[in-house]
Amino acid sequence: MERNVCGTKEKKKLLITGASGFLGKRIADFYTGKYQVYTPAHGELDLTDEGNTAQILHKYKPDIVIHCAAISDVGRCEKEPESSWNINVNGSIHIAKAAKEVQAKCILCSSDQVYFGSSLSGAHREEEQLKPSNLYGQEKLKAEQECLKIDPGCVLLRLSWMYDTETKNDGEHGDFFRTLHAQMGKKEVMQFPVYDKRGITNVNEVIANLEKTFQIPGGVYNFGSPNENDTYTTMCEVFASIGLDTGRLQRNEEAFCKNPRNLTMCQKKINQCGIFFSSTAEGLSAAMKERLDSNAAWNA
Ligand SMILES: NC(=O)c1ccc[n+]([C@@H]2O[C@H](COP(=O)([O-])OP(=O)(O)OC[C@H]3O[C@@H](n4cnc5c(N)ncnc54)[C@H](OP(=O)(O)O)[C@@H]3O)[C@@H](O)[C@H]2O)c1
Repeated sequence: MERNVCGTKEKKKLLITGASGFLGKRIADFYTGKYQVYTPAHGELDLTDEGNTAQILHKYKPDIVIHCAAISDVGRCEKEPESSWNINVNGSIHIAKAAKEVQAKCILCSSDQVYFGSSLSGAHREEEQLKPSNLYGQEKLKAEQECLKIDPGCVLLRLSWMYDTETKNDGEHGDFFRTLHAQMGKKEVMQFPVYDKRGITNVNEVIANLEKTFQIPGGVYNFGSPNENDTYTTMCEVFASIGLDTGRLQRNEEAFCKNPRNLTMCQKKINQCGIFFSSTAEGLSAAMKERLDSNAAWNA
């Protein structure tokens, strides 16, 4: 909060890009009331247009910009390399430049996919030298580097795969939890990869922790649940912790078997900023437990 000339408190202005999307919509809902929230839609703010981006930021003069707009689908980036580069890299550059012009703190969404292709087996640290194997990861890494050149105060959050227990928009993409939820209801056999290690994070933890990033120094931060285990082992832990039958879980030994994937992220840097996430198993156990009572069939 800031005081105006009359001494009354004025809410800080938050501008969110991509607020029709999975993350942006939830951030806008959560912070509306505490902040003056602006959510220019794609039709008003097209990131690929530098002049338009600058004009919109000059119009609203936000204190904080949260940049969620992107082509977030890894497969779509491979299919549409030029347009995804234009949105994910150039669009982020336009946002960082415009935010600097209006002296806004700029928080940008990056991804754990920047670690895809690394041969490291443990949790990844922010300062590693990286060469992502997929285009989406390359775009996110390039955007991080360029935005920090424009303004070293930019905060780049390497987000992991996120989920919610509820759908907020009809058109929003699915996620790990809601796919799992649908499979549980159908009593399908559930296969999870043994050659894939990554954090999977409840989006509501990301959103609640976001406010603390408005104060932290510029740089790149791992920002999601820690997870030391492969996805199959994680799910066994989740099922066991809430009393579900682990016999329903099967090992998927094909996915990533040629190139085992490790996207797990070290928490040290973010913890030093006073920001903490529950582990992937803890988060998923809590989310599933919430649903357990109303889904007796899950235990059958
Ligand atoms: N979801 C995850 O699990 C996950 C994991 C790691 C990182 N991330 C990153 O987190 C951020 C948010 O992800 P998300 O899942 O919320 O994405 P999303 O649901 O796919 O939403 C993307 C948003 O970007 C907007 N957009 C696309 N092109 C645009 C353009 N040229 N100008 C203005 N707006 C444009 C879309 O608006 P229209 O639909 O109107 O075009 C939509 O609102 C992204 O940077 C993503 O890469 C997400």
